[in-house]
Amino acid sequence: MDFSAITGDAGKRKTACAIVGVYERKVLGFGADEIDAASGGLISGMLDQGDISCKLGSAILLSRVDGAKCKRVVVVGLGRKSSFGRREYAKAVQAGLSAIKSSQVTEAACYLSGENTVNADAYYRGRLAAQALGAHRYRFNELKSKNKPAAPKLRKLALAAANKADGSELARGAEHGHGIAVGMHFTRDLANMPPNICHPTYLADEARALASNNSKLKIKVLDEPDMAALGMNSLLSVGHGSEQPSKLIQLDYRAGGDEDPIILVGKGITFDTGGISLKPGPMMDEMKFDMGGAAGVLGTMAAVSHLKLPINLTVIVPSAENMPSGRASRPGDIVESMSGKTIEILNTDAEGRLILCDALTYAQQFSPRALIDVATLTGACVIALGHHRSGVMGNDQALISRLLDAGERAVDRAWQLPIDQEYADQLKSNFADYANIGGREGGAITAAAFLGQFTEDVSWAHVDIAGTAWVGGAKKGASGRPVPMLVDYLLADLDSRQ
Ligand code: BES
Ligand code: MN
Ligand code: ZN
Repeated sequence: MDFSAITGDAGKRKTACAIVGVYERKVLGFGADEIDAASGGLISGMLDQGDISCKLGSAILLSRVDGAKCKRVVVVGLGRKSSFGRREYAKAVQAGLSAIKSSQVTEAACYLSGENTVNADAYYRGRLAAQALGAHRYRFNELKSKNKPAAPKLRKLALAAANKADGSELARGAEHGHGIAVGMHFTRDLANMPPNICHPTYLADEARALASNNSKLKIKVLDEPDMAALGMNSLLSVGHGSEQPSKLIQLDYRAGGDEDPIILVGKGITFDTGGISLKPGPMMDEMKFDMGGAAGVLGTMAAVSHLKLPINLTVIVPSAENMPSGRASRPGDIVESMSGKTIEILNTDAEGRLILCDALTYAQQFSPRALIDVATLTGACVIALGHHRSGVMGNDQALISRLLDAGERAVDRAWQLPIDQEYADQLKSNFADYANIGGREGGAITAAAFLGQFTEDVSWAHVDIAGTAWVGGAKKGASGRPVPMLVDYLLADLDSRQ
């Protein structure tokens, strides 16, 4: 993908396609006025006839724009000018690109990037545009033998700016947006891969391939005997029912001098049947996405590595397959975790926390500045927040706020849930230090509270992406979230220290 920033009269610029917008009440947006003037009122004429919608998300492709130098123009509805913010902007760019997805256009000029938005400066407009183009071009076709949907032809996007200074900010943003798109692509490919191919060993191999691309990136993979030697019996118990060996993958990216790293931990259950506490059949296929946290943190690493950010980042992925078998954990089993704390497994379907607790204990030996785990942890989080926002909890309000703010800026939003002692009290066991479930009520929170028992001496946050890591239904597939939020968090952290 190729991005550039441009200034100047839209009516006089040669391009295969100009993308412009119109606000409600027929207000022509940035560049639309110039193309309208050059074409003798094409856009305003159609607006007057009611043939162009100003509603956010609508878009129409017009060819033969006589008078203007562009071959085609896409007119995108922008909605109300007073409420045109970063989310509306991102949606508008997506709509503009969708309008040309099956055309022959290989290069376009986007004037939406010149719109003033309530809360997205030129840098973010460039970033969100590059991200939108990345998402627009994404296909997962590897496993189809025929009728593969073709990728759109568009690969060059010129981003229009009001002035030179905005132009360089747009370009800087587009570079970061492209890196985020690379990371999201990595995340989506991993998560979309079927569970007979994507098992813990496959995740380790993909992480190894990522590490081989960058000399600043080192990989270490712990096999089952290594984990047994460290006492990670909670993690290991989850994979006992599976023919696939469990793994713990560690990627260390060191380009930030001698400062302590930020550590991201991602849940890597490559398939979650529930184990002996078997899940019901309908939609069980979607539990291939139960490694969405692993995919998200690995994709974040891919973005950081692509952008060569001067930071220290460690990514840790505990990975196992949760299967029922004669060797699987039973409800009632008690395991000793790496921390020494014992856990009564009352439900083998609450397996994510069992692999995460050992990974979180393991991570703390590297004295992280911040420890963030990302997991498709609970159905309860989906009930609480739907598919729109991820859930965030933790023990450090400053860290939580930074993640929430990053999510807002990156249009990858999250919402904080409370995590009081009373929730942890729900995890009482008669036979061990903790039970692995706390009852139906507040399930997303009791899951986080469980993890909180293993992160007492570190700045820690937990991101539950059960509702956001993938979309179901006809468009079933991985979303690439929360890569935008995590990369934004890392960039902001870097900014705050420079
Ligand atoms: N991977 C699931 C959580 C999940 C369910 C994510 C549906 C996305 C959609 C997790 O391992 C799980 O099964 N959690 C249980 C916990 C319960 C047994 C306490 C759940 O949410 O039902
Ligand atoms: Mn489960
Ligand atoms: Zn799970």
